[in-house]
Amino acid sequence: MEVQGDEHRFKTIRQGILEKYRVASVSPETLFRYPTGEASALGLGYPPALVARVPAPSRERFVGVGNPFALGPIRQGEAVLDLGCGAGFDALVAALAVGPTGRVAGVDLSRRCWPWRRAAGLPRGCQPSNSGRPT
Ligand SMILES: C[S@@+](CC[C@H](N)C(=O)[O-])C[C@H]1O[C@@H](n2cnc3c(N)ncnc32)[C@H](O)[C@@H]1O
Repeated sequence: MEVQGDEHRFKTIRQGILEKYRVASVSPETLFRYPTGEASALGLGYPPALVARVPAPSRERFVGVGNPFALGPIRQGEAVLDLGCGAGFDALVAALAVGPTGRVAGVDLSRRCWPWRRAAGLPRGCQPSNSGRPT
């Protein structure tokens, strides 16, 4: 059993993720080889009318690599948990889909994503929460 080595690897991976998304929360367009922001969301098939309703701070920091909403519809009143919600783009799209009777929780390792979600103005029922130590 290699506990010390595992702990070191865990810390290294965690730090790598935190640093990568720290930069992404400031200027995502410089970090990834794939498109980010609104153009990316439209290219991945998010409905343009929904994309336009997501406040700019989250829309501009969208760094998703797929469209989870393509898997099936989310209905009014449902509860959604977004694991690794970043700056909140998908959580906000989900909040629009579930409406005021639904609930959306966004969880992310990095607290640095939170200010963008606050600036975006979370709809009622969209509660940010945190799964890791504050960064
Ligand atoms: C590709 S981004 C998510 C993009 C997001 N869906 C959006 O709308 O822009 C991946 C996110 O997962 C988070 N993450 C990675 N590993 C995590 C973990 N173990 N627990 C919680 N969040 C994690 C990162 O901090 C990052 O914000």
